Amino acid sequence: MTKSLHLDRFQLGVCYYPEHWSETLWADDFRRMRELGFSVIRMAEFAWTIFEPEEGTFSFDLFDRAIALAHDHGLQVILGTPTATPPVWLTHAYPEVLNVTQTGVQYQHGMRRHYNYNAPIYRELSARIVRKLAEHYGQSPAVIGWQIDNELNCEVNVFYSAADHVAFRAWVQRKYGCLDALNRAWGTVFWNQTYTDWAQVCLTGPTPSDSPNPHQSLDEKRFFSDSAISFARMQADILRELAPNQWITTNGIFGHLDSHQLSEEALDFISYDSYPNFNTILGSLFPNAAPDPLLDRRWSWLLSVARSISPHFCVMEQQSGPGGWTNRIAQPSPKPGQMRLWTYQSIAHGADMVLYFRWRTATMGTEIYWHGINDYHNRPNRRVAEVAQIGRELETLGLRLVTTQTSAQVALVSDYDNQWDGELDLWHGPYTRQSVQAWFTALQYQHIPVDAMYLRSTTTLEDLAQYRVLVYPHPAILTDATAALLTEYVRQGGTIVFGARTGYKDSTGQGYMRPFPGPVAELCGVIVADFTRIGPNESAPTLRWRDAEGPASAAEAFNDILQVEAISAEVLAEYAGGYYAGAPALVRNTVGNGSAYYYGAVFSAEVAVALIPRLGLASPVADWLELPRPVELCIRECAETGEQLIFLLNYSDASQTIILHKDTTDMLAGTRVQGPVVLAPFDVRILLETGPASR
Ligand code: GAL
Repeated sequence: MTKSLHLDRFQLGVCYYPEHWSETLWADDFRRMRELGFSVIRMAEFAWTIFEPEEGTFSFDLFDRAIALAHDHGLQVILGTPTATPPVWLTHAYPEVLNVTQTGVQYQHGMRRHYNYNAPIYRELSARIVRKLAEHYGQSPAVIGWQIDNELNCEVNVFYSAADHVAFRAWVQRKYGCLDALNRAWGTVFWNQTYTDWAQVCLTGPTPSDSPNPHQSLDEKRFFSDSAISFARMQADILRELAPNQWITTNGIFGHLDSHQLSEEALDFISYDSYPNFNTILGSLFPNAAPDPLLDRRWSWLLSVARSISPHFCVMEQQSGPGGWTNRIAQPSPKPGQMRLWTYQSIAHGADMVLYFRWRTATMGTEIYWHGINDYHNRPNRRVAEVAQIGRELETLGLRLVTTQTSAQVALVSDYDNQWDGELDLWHGPYTRQSVQAWFTALQYQHIPVDAMYLRSTTTLEDLAQYRVLVYPHPAILTDATAALLTEYVRQGGTIVFGARTGYKDSTGQGYMRPFPGPVAELCGVIVADFTRIGPNESAPTLRWRDAEGPASAAEAFNDILQVEAISAEVLAEYAGGYYAGAPALVRNTVGNGSAYYYGAVFSAEVAVALIPRLGLASPVADWLELPRPVELCIRECAETGEQLIFLLNYSDASQTIILHKDTTDMLAGTRVQGPVVLAPFDVRILLETGPASR
């Protein structure tokens, strides 16, 4: 079942912390929120001590008053369950709830997320506070939904407390049944790690060279994910029982957590926290040093991942000022127009509800530099004025937005096993990151909307068949069952693209004793005869296209030297250098009504650009709309009417000219437009394309 947000109009709102402010400010805050067009606020996710000042004593007064006043002002409330910040009295009485690093250091108070998911007493006390809150607010007309915890697995996504070791032992016992199976799955005969008693089994510990058993390490990440999910499900079960008419979500997408499974098992839809100004300080995925760094535009990819879980989702926290903690994450201010741009970026990618983080900058604590809409002084400022404009615009657009859904014809495919295995494994993980970046960048600049798609055990042919093209860059772990599904997708007319290092591992992360690419060798019509990494002192060979049309781009990072096995397979490009010059580098195999491409290297944006037309992909608006590179194209389409909202987002600090070759409605300006149209720096346009029915 799709886990999606269902609204009858778009909702804008803000995160609010009544416990941070004098009560004399509340009424004025709520009044001004309404003036800005807000209809929803989130609160309480860090307020456990307010609700339970000492163990077993509960108090709802402060939030009762805040919620009632907000409701009187016409605001709806999302309540956070407060388990991301256990009270000091709790961790003091039960230190076993604290999380522990892999090297055995126990976290203490001062930050948040210092707990573990498996301490039985933490589960018990968390269940009790959630139950108390749900009993108290489960029927409240002001409360529309719940956010479980806050950003599960943010800040820390590894857990090594005593309770986690115990729970892991039980987890592997359930998974493997007997030690023989565990020993086989973890390949423990290698380097003499054979377990002879369950009591010996633990999560990974410190090892020389930081090189734990890779199969154990993969299982450990699956266990971390399952732990977070069962903790969330425990809360969701209580909420469903006591608050059946209020929805359940959680915010953020973080490491070692299968957010798709989490949503399936515990949520009504996923929420995402979007902070595009992190681009100014982070660069691991889509590095800023890349020739054409996507910077804040790469959040479009992260939003696409949220959309792969919930086609309509909520952005629970939208950046509304410069970010910064006292000691880290120091960011510049969003430039005039950027907050508006980022808000429409979220909406263009599927958000039907957006809440800014936060109403007013905190005057105390770690986040005194994580700026909200309002400054400490609480007087009008540039950010408030920008939000007011957004509020006015969305007031008119709101109804139309929610009937449309973001659409794409191509998806970049991922899966959690490869993502987690690839964190440790240098022989495929970095390649996937590079190739996802290359494809996303290439598609962005060609104005071809793209989805993220996660392959899971529940994925069906129908899920795949909505895409004309799937790009699954380097699935090292690939099972026969997945290969069969992908083969059927191709047989029925789909196109799939693989890169080097495909299909050489089973689901434990051990190597298959089969020619690469293992389970998809037949689908691709090739085997890998030889392979090599491109060493640090070597340059990658260039590609020579057989049809001579492609540019001379490099076959980067790793080269699978291919051998064609099927008569239906055609070599499209060969290596032009290295000891394997002349060997096939890119092969297309025709299978049934579709085709499979195997590219022996790691993708670069140039190679993706060269492949795009060969895959039959083009911008859906190419025949009537000319767009410069800095402008992103996103389309939200109404399934019933075919009506399309065409989002044009200018990420550049310079004006950009688009050229419309037909007369179209500009939704935000409320005018008809044609010919050259100038987008100011960071500006946004939404064009309306009427569907076939009304054309
Ligand atoms: C999010 C978090 C918020 C706030 C914000 C800014 O990760 O959910 O509580 O901390 O970041 O740092």
